[in-house]
Amino acid sequence: MVTTKNTANLKDQILDLKKQRNAVLLVHNYQVGEIQDMADYVGDSLGLAYQAKETDADTIVFCGVHFMAETAKIVNPQKTVILPDVNAGCSLEQSCSGDQLESFLKENEEKDYYVIAYINCSAHVKALSDCICTSGNALKIVDAAPKDRPILFVPDQNLGSWVMEQTGRKMDLWQGSCYVHVEYTRESILKIREEYPDAILVSHPECTYAVRMLSDEVCSTEKMIGYSRDSKSKNIIIATENGMLHRLRNEVPDKNFIPAPTQNCACSECRFMKMNTLEKLRDCLLNLSPEVVLQEEIRVKAAAPIQRMLELSS
Ligand code: 13P
Ligand code: SF4
Repeated sequence: MVTTKNTANLKDQILDLKKQRNAVLLVHNYQVGEIQDMADYVGDSLGLAYQAKETDADTIVFCGVHFMAETAKIVNPQKTVILPDVNAGCSLEQSCSGDQLESFLKENEEKDYYVIAYINCSAHVKALSDCICTSGNALKIVDAAPKDRPILFVPDQNLGSWVMEQTGRKMDLWQGSCYVHVEYTRESILKIREEYPDAILVSHPECTYAVRMLSDEVCSTEKMIGYSRDSKSKNIIIATENGMLHRLRNEVPDKNFIPAPTQNCACSECRFMKMNTLEKLRDCLLNLSPEVVLQEEIRVKAAAPIQRMLELSS
């Protein structure tokens, strides 16, 4: 049983180990509140990539999912990058392996695709791409893509369609999706809107077209903070993973945040994001393991499109 005393003890151990390891704790917005509260930085994939690149700590301890920790290693290879649970994957990453993308590009060589990969993918996929994007900068990255080449957008079909709707740029889309965000449906959203008729709806671009169409704003997790703060509406329905509510409620305390229901349950949780716990965080700092290790050839190839993204979005 985890008691308050145990938790306080665990937190002290984490703080001590962090000091001993000269570690920086980077945390994604979907982590449980108690991990967010210990972070040196909490944010979205883009903010976390910048933080990972700029840190002068010796160790990066990354609480998010595996591709995020891998990105930290790609941009800052001199650092030891550890994560609490090596099995914290992502359904988008799983939907497009490096081998599948490589075969597809070979079969379609004559098209000379400019490949834009959403950051939710493996190092191997990044290494095969021309530019990376996140939900926070996807519009900018696609706008900046060469006009004389067709774009292949991988792996998220929903983010890809949203970008096409917003930019008017036609792209070929890989058919991947986030298993969490596709659980929101037109019906589940209409139901909650009926309950809170004066509320606005803010959703993540990984949601389906039907849900995006019902939204007042579609944006990355980081942008949800500023949008909610500036909104005149008191009631705000949030259609994204429920870890986001912790930050929203902390940073915008005068608003009432309502988790959008999915078709099957009252709120949505990413099982990969929730694999991280305070115990595992303490253990990975103690053992400096699991550690992200990458083949140098893949790392170097994957670093170039990430660097392009960071330059384009700064
Ligand atoms: P953000 O970059 O908006 O934080 O999104 C990451 C993610 O995994 C969304 O499901
Ligand atoms: Fe991947 Fe979806 Fe989880 Fe984000 S919420 S990490 S896209 S499975």
